[in-house]
Amino acid sequence: MTTHTHDHVPETEGATITWWAPLYDACTWLVSFGTMPGVRKSTVKAGRLKAGEAVLDVGCGTGDLTLRAARRVGAEGRTAGIDASPNMIKIASRKAAKKGRDIDFRVAPIEDLPFADGEFDAALSSLMVHHLPDDLKVRGLAEVRRVLKPGGRLVVVDLKPGKGIVGFLSHLMGHRLPDDYAEQLKATMQEAGFEDVELLDVKNRMVIFLRATK
Ligand SMILES: C[S@@+](CC[C@H](N)C(=O)[O-])C[C@H]1O[C@@H](n2cnc3c(N)ncnc32)[C@H](O)[C@@H]1O
Repeated sequence: MTTHTHDHVPETEGATITWWAPLYDACTWLVSFGTMPGVRKSTVKAGRLKAGEAVLDVGCGTGDLTLRAARRVGAEGRTAGIDASPNMIKIASRKAAKKGRDIDFRVAPIEDLPFADGEFDAALSSLMVHHLPDDLKVRGLAEVRRVLKPGGRLVVVDLKPGKGIVGFLSHLMGHRLPDDYAEQLKATMQEAGFEDVELLDVKNRMVIFLRATK
């Protein structure tokens, strides 16, 4: 296990968001037509988070979902967020400080999490798995499984492949997803060792929600 400071840039084959991190929130708002707060809310709900639990946000970016998860588990719970991009973690840490939330944000890659086995009740990963090459998707999710308690939940939210405006915008941002991406993701989660992998029935034009247990 390697620990990473805020300035250390970990090696990863994942596509990290670096120079445009300060523009990320605005871009996401525009591309999602302002629907991200609803997606965050559904993600936390899908995670079945309870007060007092320990939750990890993997590839947390600028921390909006992490903050919402922290609110749900409360001060008696524990919230951590990791991202391989120091610029993203800087922004997320600043937001948490501003809101007075005690969140353990760290610069780290999904494939080498700086946590012991079985530390978390739940893990969330939003819009990040498609940033990883296929073999790293499996390795990274297996690493997430390692830090979950037995019976711990994983929620993966990712882009929905599509042909309309949503598909066009994803394409524009360099995300070319196969039509059966949801099925592929399900198989990837199973390959990483997760059980009860299910595609959730959450109505959304842009993203899909999957949940699994360790
Ligand atoms: C599209 S952003 C999603 C951010 C946030 N989860 C959200 O829902 O807005 C994808 C994030 O994954 C991060 N990332 C890419 N490869 C990674 C890796 N190997 N380990 C951890 N984070 C990674 C990027 O730096 C980026 O912040």
